[in-house]
Amino acid sequence: MIETDSPYFLAPMAGYTDKPFRYICKKFGAGLTVSELISVNAIYYKNKKTLKLLEKNDIEKPFCIQLFGSDADIFLYAAQSVEDKCDCIDINAGCPVSKVVKTFAGSYLLKDKNRLLAIVDKLKKHIKKPVSVKLRKGFDENSINSMDFYKELENSGVDFITIHPRLRGQFFKGEVDYEHAARVVDTLKIDVVINGGIDSLDKLDKVKEITKAKYFMIGQAAIDKPYIFKEFIKEKEMQKDAKFIKELAKEHFLLMVAYYGEYLAIRNFRKFFHRYAKGFRFAKQLNKEINECLKKEKVLTVIDKLD
Ligand SMILES: Cc1cc2nc3c(=O)[nH]c(=O)nc-3n(C[C@H](O)[C@H](O)[C@H](O)COP(=O)(O)O)c2cc1C
Repeated sequence: MIETDSPYFLAPMAGYTDKPFRYICKKFGAGLTVSELISVNAIYYKNKKTLKLLEKNDIEKPFCIQLFGSDADIFLYAAQSVEDKCDCIDINAGCPVSKVVKTFAGSYLLKDKNRLLAIVDKLKKHIKKPVSVKLRKGFDENSINSMDFYKELENSGVDFITIHPRLRGQFFKGEVDYEHAARVVDTLKIDVVINGGIDSLDKLDKVKEITKAKYFMIGQAAIDKPYIFKEFIKEKEMQKDAKFIKELAKEHFLLMVAYYGEYLAIRNFRKFFHRYAKGFRFAKQLNKEINECLKKEKVLTVIDKLD
């Protein structure tokens, strides 16, 4: 495993884990931050929007870039072009979205395990930085990963894996098979990061007990409460009053303005504000107001109304 200050990692989430949000999570103690999934083809064609996704904050150490694709040679080209911008390259073998699966990438790689192994093999032969794989427990009921498959992955030299033990059809919700994850931890010598449904201290304890793993990755719960990393590290819930949430939301929004410019920041911040507003009085009204904001000052005024 690469060296990290904390065993609680931020999951890659397209549309959410951009540079500003990763800064917020890192400040709360996320041990590893990962880029959103990035297309190897887009890197190959030097797509401008994609290249911006590779930017990171100075405090993101270690930082992992997650790539998705299906062709081992293009994968290697992309990995080599981004290797010096990160501390680890992660191969996406879990994305359930049709647009990705149709191109034989993401969770499709669990139906075509030889293709996945070929990508790992190619990267491990030519990439100096650690290489990891983030995968589900299978594509569907007919392709659940055997322990032999995990051993093959380990033998291919992969440095660690992250397991999200759901099937492709479950997308990001529903039962998480921690027992499957526990078998993987028990089978492999390399580290296994556990991901899926870890949203509270109680849940973390339960997952630790079942899986006996050392590393955990948090996705959707971090969007609701980016301070969850601090709570996990301190093993204690934090006091979160309106002042705290307002300051957090403002800092987050201003980071977005610096990164995206005012126009895009206002639009991209709306979904985060809806999370920050959860549980506050008048949340419904404030969510409506934030959706109508067109100026930075107006956004800050709406944030101030959280009470
Ligand atoms: C909106 C959204 C976007 C996601 N994007 C990615 C992605 O780019 N790469 C990836 O490996 N997983 C992605 N995931 C999956 C998460 O990394 C994680 O595996 C999943 O949400 C389960 O963890 P959780 O229950 O803690 O959220 C995404 C999930 C969500 C909800």
